[in-house]
Order: sequence, then structure tokens, then C-alpha cells
Amino acid sequence: MKLLITGGTGLVGRNIIAEAQNRGVKLHYLTTDKRKIISDDAVKGFYWNPKQDFLDQKCFEGVDTLIHLAGATISKPWTPKNRKEIMESRVITSRMLSQSMKHEKIKMKQIMCASAIGIYPNSFEDTLTENSTETPENFLQEVTQAWEQQSHAMSDCTDHLSIFRIGLVLAKDEGLLAELSQPVKLFSGTAFATGKQWQSWIHINDLCQLFLFAAQAGWEGTYNAVAPKPVRQRTLIKELGRVLRRPVFLPNIPGAIIKLVMGERSVLILGSQKVSSELVVSKGFSFKYSLLPEALKDLYG
Ligand SMILES: NC(=O)c1ccc[n+]([C@@H]2O[C@H](COP(=O)([O-])OP(=O)(O)OC[C@H]3O[C@@H](n4cnc5c(N)ncnc54)[C@H](OP(=O)(O)O)[C@@H]3O)[C@@H](O)[C@H]2O)c1
Repeated sequence: MKLLITGGTGLVGRNIIAEAQNRGVKLHYLTTDKRKIISDDAVKGFYWNPKQDFLDQKCFEGVDTLIHLAGATISKPWTPKNRKEIMESRVITSRMLSQSMKHEKIKMKQIMCASAIGIYPNSFEDTLTENSTETPENFLQEVTQAWEQQSHAMSDCTDHLSIFRIGLVLAKDEGLLAELSQPVKLFSGTAFATGKQWQSWIHINDLCQLFLFAAQAGWEGTYNAVAPKPVRQRTLIKELGRVLRRPVFLPNIPGAIIKLVMGERSVLILGSQKVSSELVVSKGFSFKYSLLPEALKDLYG
């Protein structure tokens, strides 16, 4: 296997690259930032600028597997400019990859694309499976649906296209966990609204293993990339307090205040999605971290 990864300089991409290197897999990655290009025998960086329709075609040389992760962060305020960036960085990049591969008559053994569980509706009761998508009601759902639609267009370039709806990625001091753990460390950890929102999480190591497992097994279709045991948000904050040895005693911050401060983006912390991992488990993947306390102990213990 030889990999090409987009978004390879981000949280998930960096960890997949490290794990692929451990396994002796050679790889290329695409970056929009020339300063992030490095090149050695095992890993080679290539430049692309999707906004200006530029992609260094050499990135495809010898590659048989594509992992497409690129996308602008959703954690910046959702101003009209940032919304455009969030949407286009996913849709335009996916379109560009499929057009380039078609133009170069490249057929990959496997193409794997990121998506997010934000595609699912808000629910406090239902367990959401890969079939639980509905008409979009918020910006996250609009983005993920458009992103997946564009990813499906890559099916002309492979017989094995798979899409992974990723949950909250747990990595030490990075991503959303960094934002949640910082106040806990400062003795001001608290949950939001009722705190009963479901958080469907996945340990970064399991996510990397899942991508590489699915690549080797030639998976097709759409999969939830979440651990088997989602938790309520209040439990997540309490468990963080336990592992960081800090009490979590403050009352929850009312949802109305969060909505006032964050606007539509409040869906990121007020949204509730209890997402099922049954399909990936039934395909033979086993999680190292199924339970939150074990995952947090590994990261912060
Ligand atoms: N982390 C999570 O909890 C989580 C959950 C659900 C879904 N996801 C999705 O999984 C993917 C990877 O997540 P991550 O946490 O690794 O994200 P990340 O750390 O923010 O990295 C994203 C990467 O995308 C590239 N990128 C940013 N803006 C871009 C643009 N305008 N055009 C092209 N590339 C751009 C960047 O690479 P360069 O700067 O090198 O170009 C960056 O390294 C993302 O699409 C994310 O939405 C993540």
C-alpha cells in the first residue's frame, strides 16, 4: 500500500501518518502551506491550492490509496466568510481530487473520505445508525451532506470508496478535548445546558487504526467512526475532572447563555448524538478504547 493523505498536517492526518510510518507504509500528503512540505524516503509533501485550482500531479505517483481529510476548522466563529471557507474547503477539494484523478486516468484501490457525525439530527433518545440522516436543519448538516455528496463523485476513481463519519476525536490537549479540559484544569470545569447531550467520541489511536484497517480490508460504504460507548456531556466533564484530579462542582451553564454567545455554532456543544459503532464492529474492527475512562486515562493518566 502507498498512501496519499489530504489534511495530513492536521490532528487526524499527523497521527495516521505516524501510524503508517510505524507499519513501514510509504506515503505522500497534500498541503496548502508550502512551509509544511517535507520530503524524505518514507514521507513526501506536495503543494495544492484548491482555491486557485492547483494540484501538484506528482502527488499521485505510485499511490494506490487516498485518505481525504482536508477541511477548514469549524471551531472559528461562523461568520459568512468562515462558513464559505468551511464549505468550500471540503466541497472544492473533493471535486478537485476527483477531476484530477479522472483527468490522469488514475484508478485507486481504495479511497477513504472523512465526514462527521454532525450530519445526524439532534436526538436525546435515538441511537443513530448510518441510515439516520435527514434533511439538513443546521449549517453542520448542510456542510456534511454536501461534502459526502462530493465524495461520492470519487466512486468513478475506485471500486472501494468509503466515508467515515467521525465523532469527537479524543487527543491529548488538541481539538475539542483541549477546549473542554482547559477549564477543568483551572477548577472551572462545567457542562452546558442540561449536560445530558450525548457525546459520541473516539480515541485518536482507534481512529487511525480504523482508517488503516478499512484500507487493508477494502471497505466500501459509509461508516460511523465512534467508540461503542457514547457518554452524556456531564459524564465526560466529570471523567475529565477525575483523570485530571480536579473537582467539577460548578452548576451547568444555561443553554440560553450559550446560544446568546455562540449563536448557531452552539450546536457544537448543545447538540446531542448517540451514534452507533455496530457496523464497524460487525466488519471485524475492534476498539482498544471502548470506554471513556480508559481512553482518558491513556491520554492524561
Ligand atoms: N477532530 C475531530 O474531532 C473531528 C470530528 C469530526 C470530523 N472531523 C473531520 O476530519 C477531518 C480531519 O480532522 P482534524 O481534526 O485532523 O482537522 P484539522 O486538525 O483542523 O486539520 C485539517 C487539515 O485540513 C487542511 N485544510 C485546512 N483548511 C483547508 C483549505 N481551505 N483547503 C484545503 N485544506 C485545508 C489543513 O492542512 P494544510 O494546512 O496542510 O493544508 C489541516 O491540516 C476534518 O475534515 C474534520 O472536519 C474531525
